[in-house]
Amino acid sequence: MITSTREIPEEQAVEQSLRPQTFDDYIGQEQIKKNLNISIQAATKRGEPLDHLLFYGPPGLGKTSLAYLIAKSLGSSIKITSGPALEKPGDLASILTNVEQGDVLFIDEIHRLSKTLEEVLYSAMEDFVLDIIVGKGPSARTLRLDLPKFTLIGATTKYGSLSGPLRSRFGNIYSFDFYEPYHITTILERSSSILNVKADSREVLDLIAERSRQTPRVANRLLKRVRDVAEVHNEGTMSRPIAEQTFEMLGVDNYGLEAGDRRILETIIHKFNGGPVGLSTLAASTAEEVVTIEEIYEPFLMRQGFIQRTPRGRIVTDICYEYLNLTLPDRD
Ligand SMILES: Nc1ncnc2c1ncn2[C@@H]1O[C@H](COP(=O)(O)OP(=O)(O)O)[C@@H](O)[C@H]1O
Ligand SMILES: [Mg+2]
Repeated sequence: MITSTREIPEEQAVEQSLRPQTFDDYIGQEQIKKNLNISIQAATKRGEPLDHLLFYGPPGLGKTSLAYLIAKSLGSSIKITSGPALEKPGDLASILTNVEQGDVLFIDEIHRLSKTLEEVLYSAMEDFVLDIIVGKGPSARTLRLDLPKFTLIGATTKYGSLSGPLRSRFGNIYSFDFYEPYHITTILERSSSILNVKADSREVLDLIAERSRQTPRVANRLLKRVRDVAEVHNEGTMSRPIAEQTFEMLGVDNYGLEAGDRRILETIIHKFNGGPVGLSTLAASTAEEVVTIEEIYEPFLMRQGFIQRTPRGRIVTDICYEYLNLTLPDRD
């Protein structure tokens, strides 16, 4: 799916080249930037490492990019890993013993850390020590290592899956929200100049922004596709008809929704009478994975007001029936 907010390995190089290099390049999320700026200045003044930070929000909204920028503005290096990549306590230990004073350790998908590793992390975050168990059986003993003072930045798409004790060890928690279309247009302006592609008006970028699910990652991906069509059909210049032709080819509608999104909405309507339907039932009926529905489809469908979460499951809204041109059901 072209509008998937998920990272795609083949895209990494381009994504890297489009990452904001300064806080000025980092558009939107003003509240987060303002608070961070204060924390960074205060920590620098005190000569202390920055408090641990937790970033949460749907994929593609700039969590990783911001972590890079923070390390840069602290003048420190950043080490990057992720919850699923860390399997044994030793994996975490070897990273922790390699960080230096003031470094940033970025753990992506931190909600996927195992319980055991989470516990290793507690004392590392709180007291900057690492407890390792040496030996086995009755002769086993705990060895305590001092760690340099580092800053942990955890990122998660699922705040609710994080345990209370882990959450409470973060000094600051920032929630990432979808972007306003005009912010996306500004991001696209910078991306087009890096990719060296011309648009015959700013309106073309607005059009791409409108269909980007309010997500910078998707916006940049759509930009590249419109650029490709422009190269083949319009000597490289992006125009309104070229953009519209691209969206048509990709099956992306005015709302930035694709066939997959509509299938989910239609399934709730036709098979479950508009809902409520539980997440796993919905996943089974649409042949999608639960995490894909939860992390990729649903956040934006909820943001658009097409779906609502209730204690008994997902329901579609009146707005959704209108969007699909269906008559509203009788509800009591
Ligand atoms: N605030 C922003 N300003 C400019 N570009 C952004 C911003 N947020 C994200 N991007 C762009 O979107 C891409 C994906 O962002 P990323 O930080 O990897 O998202 P996340 O880690 O939340 O999934 C980046 O390569 C970057 O080009
Ligand atoms: Mg990321």
